[in-house]
Amino acid sequence: MFHHLKSFDPDIYAAIREETRRQSDTLEMIASENFVSPAVLEALGSVMTNKYAEGYPKARYYGGCDFVDNAESLARERVKQLFDCKHANVQPHSGSQANMAAYLTLAKPGDTIMGMHLDHGGHLTHGSGVNFSGRLFKAVPYGLNPATGRIDYDAMWKLAKEYKPKIIVTGASAYPRIIDFAKVRQIADDVGAYHIADIAHIAGLVAAGLHPSPLPFAAIVTSTTHKTLRGPRGGLILTDVEGGEFLLENMPKPKTLAEAIDAWVFPGTQGGPLMHCIAAKAVAFKEALQPTFKIYQQQIVKNAAALAETLMSGGFKLVSDGTDNHLMLMDLAPKGLTGKAASAALEKAGITVNKNMVPGDPQKPFVTSGVRIGTPALTTRGMKEAEMRLIGRMFIGVLNNLKNEAVIARVRGEVGELSKQFPLYDVPK
Ligand SMILES: Cc1ncc(COP(=O)(O)O)c(C=O)c1O
Repeated sequence: MFHHLKSFDPDIYAAIREETRRQSDTLEMIASENFVSPAVLEALGSVMTNKYAEGYPKARYYGGCDFVDNAESLARERVKQLFDCKHANVQPHSGSQANMAAYLTLAKPGDTIMGMHLDHGGHLTHGSGVNFSGRLFKAVPYGLNPATGRIDYDAMWKLAKEYKPKIIVTGASAYPRIIDFAKVRQIADDVGAYHIADIAHIAGLVAAGLHPSPLPFAAIVTSTTHKTLRGPRGGLILTDVEGGEFLLENMPKPKTLAEAIDAWVFPGTQGGPLMHCIAAKAVAFKEALQPTFKIYQQQIVKNAAALAETLMSGGFKLVSDGTDNHLMLMDLAPKGLTGKAASAALEKAGITVNKNMVPGDPQKPFVTSGVRIGTPALTTRGMKEAEMRLIGRMFIGVLNNLKNEAVIARVRGEVGELSKQFPLYDVPK
């Protein structure tokens, strides 16, 4: 493996080798990450990357598209089956691109959109001022009830009545609880808004029936493919809405919602699709259609619950006091710690998490009072509740002894032992 790279570009070869070693020897607990299968990796590293295929299957602007057409059609059919929906676009290069195309399908620059506040768990693309979403659109953020750490739907409704948004976006990057998509649809209907659900984080849980699907309640559903869904990096857009009357600039005829989405992906916001990624998405969707995928998703949730329980019984505060899904958000302020210091010490001990704002966080985004922890990647390695309890105790040991190098070194040793018991990829020689 990698013999061409090893001889031609030893620097990049070494970077890949060391990254493979890092992934294998440490505990990956960033909630948005996962480990793809060797089959997905093979598709990603294939000659599909060479092909230009602007357009859609059977309607391309380039010749020679027969085989990439097969791959894209398979990806579309499989993801439609997975989420039980009528239309899918698998071309978005990322979750952000999926959101851009979805917003532009339903709103014009200058319109108002409502998404979850970044500091409360929303994503940059849900209206942050430093992102296109907050620059092209007028963003009105909704948030959590500070007492419960859960989405305050009554406050969202009030805001929606006041600001009359064109779009309400649901979904989050750091929200540990079930999202009530039906409720948001009710709010959107009441104020004449469209509901877009971004299930980037929970897509695997939705596919496995462990989180309610937004499809009956959202005009458009967007997602990434690389988090709980365990595919290559990328995005997708789904809709179950048939028909529609969308008149796009420079396009003579009104379009259905599905056609308008496709037009906003290409040519609206993207050029040539990444066919190697689309082939790899098709492989990942096939994997997600296997019965074992549901068992995997169930284990992710059980693992998160076991870890949350261990952390809370060790005296640590979790936002909303627990989790329903694959992630939890530790609020370290009561312990007088910052997310920055905690994540740095954990990394030294071989546990990778990310610092994260908590609701009402007094710290700056680069410091934060929280860390976000997820179980999808370790569950892929085969770890179960017993390992989560062990890892929970490692967290507690490190976080109670942030400056104690001996404790951190001891935990680093335990992490190495545990990693060996759950092998991941072979490290290239
Ligand atoms: C809820 C949500 N939406 C969208 C995205 C954007 O995905 P990408 O990083 O692929 O652009 C993320 C990524 O973290 C996310 O958490």
